Amino acid sequence: MTTTQNLLDPGFELTLRPMRYPDFYERYRDAIKNTWTVEEVDLHSDVADLAKLSPAEQHLIGRLVAFFATGDSIVANNLVLTLYKHINSPEARLYLSRQLFEEAVHVQFYLTLLDTYLPDPEDRAAAFAAVENIPSIREKAGFCFKWINEVEKLERLESQADRRRFLLNLICFAACIEGLFFYGAFAYVYWFRSRGLLHGLATGTNWVFRDETMHMSFAFDVVDTVRKEEPELFDDRLQQEVTDMLREAVEAELQFARDLCGDGLPGMNTESMRQYLECVADQRLTRLGFAPVYGSENPFSFMELQGVQELTNFFERRPSAYQVAVEGTVDLDEDF
Ligand SMILES: [Fe+2]
Ligand SMILES: [Fe+2]
Repeated sequence: MTTTQNLLDPGFELTLRPMRYPDFYERYRDAIKNTWTVEEVDLHSDVADLAKLSPAEQHLIGRLVAFFATGDSIVANNLVLTLYKHINSPEARLYLSRQLFEEAVHVQFYLTLLDTYLPDPEDRAAAFAAVENIPSIREKAGFCFKWINEVEKLERLESQADRRRFLLNLICFAACIEGLFFYGAFAYVYWFRSRGLLHGLATGTNWVFRDETMHMSFAFDVVDTVRKEEPELFDDRLQQEVTDMLREAVEAELQFARDLCGDGLPGMNTESMRQYLECVADQRLTRLGFAPVYGSENPFSFMELQGVQELTNFFERRPSAYQVAVEGTVDLDEDF
């Protein structure tokens, strides 16, 4: 029997006892407590809200759901094709299996959302084709595909150069895609909610948001583990590459914001979105142990509560802190 030395050493380790990475196993168990289903999200009142929106707001929501149409599928593909292959720990692979299920639920949620929001089959087809036809969405997808293609041909992480490329892919998906593109998208949803609109979408988004936050945390834990095991990978060059990547992601998301916001809407415009994205990008850099570069404050008060998962929004139909308790009881937030 061979013993794996490091998390990124090539192979498909099978040994769970003794357990080398118990924290990854705990993350898997925690994720199971957050099980939710698309059928629990009631989108009925959203349909009436959509009819009330101004043309500018309708344009914004149309573009937003077109981004949602393919975003999580791209993440799921990278998870299977890259992360699962190279993170060599059966505990971590348990977590990734669970994450793959969650991405499937997200894909199903957005499919249901598009079916509800876009009753015309031609509009629906156009939303799914946005990844090719709408420049601001195509650019974000192109950013993702660039970092997928970087590692596509890597079968085994033999050299330091291989591991560096893999780390950039992992960091890209956690910090830039789940941690920035999706956070940008969630801000538009909560902006609608702050104005009393689209509560069904906001409810589903609460659960997606919680899942994405955990996906990102897991990926950052993997980065921390690699940093402990192979600190020589974390040099100035990696810091520069990650910083450049985040700047590129902010620019891509800003182009999307320009497309969505046009000349601006009450409480939502390209400039406030820029500040928000810069603030989020700094948080990602800081979490990775790198220096922040923007120094921007979060301009969106409606996003501040979202980091605290235990808080229950009064407007929600079910508290998102609800968990399927593994011991057979149900935990409801008692403060509700
Ligand atoms: Fe997702
Ligand atoms: Fe995710």
